[in-house]
Amino acid sequence: MIYKKIKDNILYAGMNDCDRLIFDELIPLDHGTSYNSYIVIGSEKTAVIDTMYPKFTQEYLKSFDENGIKKVDYIIANHGEQDHSGSIPAMLEKFPQAVVVTNAVCAGNLKEMLLIPSDKIKIVKNDEELSLGDKTLQFKIAPGVHWPDTMFTYLKEDNIICTCDFLGAHYVFEDVFAVPSKELERSAKKYYAEIMMPFATVCRKYIQQIRNMNVDMVMPSHGPIHKNPNYILDLYEDWAGEKGKNLVLLPYVSMYHSTTEMIDYLANKLAEKGIPSIKYDMVDGNLGDLAIALVDGTTIVLGTSMVLAGPHPAAFNTVYLASVLKPKAKIASFIGSYGWGGNLFGKMADMLAPLKLDVIEPILVKGRAKAEDFAKIDVMAQEIYNKHHELGLI
Ligand code: FEO
Repeated sequence: MIYKKIKDNILYAGMNDCDRLIFDELIPLDHGTSYNSYIVIGSEKTAVIDTMYPKFTQEYLKSFDENGIKKVDYIIANHGEQDHSGSIPAMLEKFPQAVVVTNAVCAGNLKEMLLIPSDKIKIVKNDEELSLGDKTLQFKIAPGVHWPDTMFTYLKEDNIICTCDFLGAHYVFEDVFAVPSKELERSAKKYYAEIMMPFATVCRKYIQQIRNMNVDMVMPSHGPIHKNPNYILDLYEDWAGEKGKNLVLLPYVSMYHSTTEMIDYLANKLAEKGIPSIKYDMVDGNLGDLAIALVDGTTIVLGTSMVLAGPHPAAFNTVYLASVLKPKAKIASFIGSYGWGGNLFGKMADMLAPLKLDVIEPILVKGRAKAEDFAKIDVMAQEIYNKHHELGLI
């Protein structure tokens, strides 16, 4: 456990989970993650904002004794997901006088997921305030970043906002305050890609809301605290923007190198035209790298071998991920090679349909690419160039 004074009577009480290698059993973590809980001690009442991942409940509870926190009146649940709410039942046992304070949607989740009784929950509305004596908490309901139950808690007198998952990062630290670095930026971007990118439009709304509040600090529930809120707000604004970069993503899987050869050829042709690309090995690659690339890419050309009359399963996996993460990509195509027949692209195109991508004619080759196939790739590269130019990216 890390206990640290943030300001007078505002404490960080969180945990670095350095051993965690993957989150949501989906995206690998480069730096583990932290679960941040905050204690706000008013002249009359004490509130805890978000709690702890269940695995660390006992350490978390013990830390209250070790640091002389003898009473908790309010447990603020900014979000019902259990990496933040999981210790609430144990907190209610330790501090039986405490009441859980949250919005109506989150209250429903806490009742269903953690079996918290209704009479232990106080439901608050947007902008409602809760006095702790000389400190006031104000609740900002913020559905969609990233669950429908999310809210922020604003510490009025201290001009600090606790944003739960929003503006967070999977990152561990010794000091709890953010020190800008490429590593922190990468972790925050990967985190954004996985849990916030599907809600980019909503993110833009809350980025602006927090900018307008001109807060002194952003205290998320994962990753470091931002004493310079513009650092993380600027990054999020870039990532959540509607326009992608002059960048092509080339996820590929190739059984006999025929598809790799074509993807490599396309990458070289794009480079000749001034279009950077990122190749991603769908079997051996780190899914986090793909997620990060999806934040920026405008075009996706997916290369796959045929396996049993359809795309390689790794290609389906990538296409599914792209379809649910809702990246800002505008253009897509496919390149593939087959041995004896089947439908290589149809189902993948169907899965991507909700993204309403501009699909360039795919290229399907039996075995190795021949001169006429490479000529088709030349045409594809030129089409991508033209479309990027029309979009003002070149
Ligand atoms: Fe960090 Fe949505 O929980």
